[in-house]
Amino acid sequence: MAVTKVALVASMMACMLLTCSYSKSTLTCDQITIWLTPCIAYAVLGGNVSSLCCQGIYSLNAAYKSGDDRRGACQCIKDRAAYIPGIDYDRVNQIPGKCGTKCPFKLYPSTNCSAVK
Ligand SMILES: *[C@@H]1O[C@H](CO)[C@@H](O)[C@H](O)[C@H]1NC(C)=O
Ligand SMILES: *[C@@H]1O[C@H](CO)[C@@H](O)[C@H](O)[C@H]1NC(C)=O
Repeated sequence: MAVTKVALVASMMACMLLTCSYSKSTLTCDQITIWLTPCIAYAVLGGNVSSLCCQGIYSLNAAYKSGDDRRGACQCIKDRAAYIPGIDYDRVNQIPGKCGTKCPFKLYPSTNCSAVK
């Protein structure tokens, strides 16, 4: 009896986790942060842009489905970048080019993310 109960609870939890990850259709700030964390070293210290960082940029670009996604990503990156000591915004804006791609917006503390198309 007890074993059945545990199995039931476990399968309910698995179900909840799956539902949770399936319902995340919109781009979340936590996901963006995970993708872009490998880029922080270059943004602060310079040197070379790592391939992990470029992969994060590609994933982010591929995830944009709408203007809302781009505006949300802009706001997310801007808010989180503001907490990174020593971040160099000129270097931040060089990263997409160094990865051979583009970012739909330029990131500065003054960027108006509501105006991103
Ligand atoms: C950048 O990468 C190149 C080639 O991999 C390497 O020769 C160079 O030393 C690296 N520069 C820095 C600053 O790490
Ligand atoms: C930001 O852009 C939006 C949309 O273009 C505009 O309505 C708003 O006034 C702008 N905000 C600032 C602070 O410039």
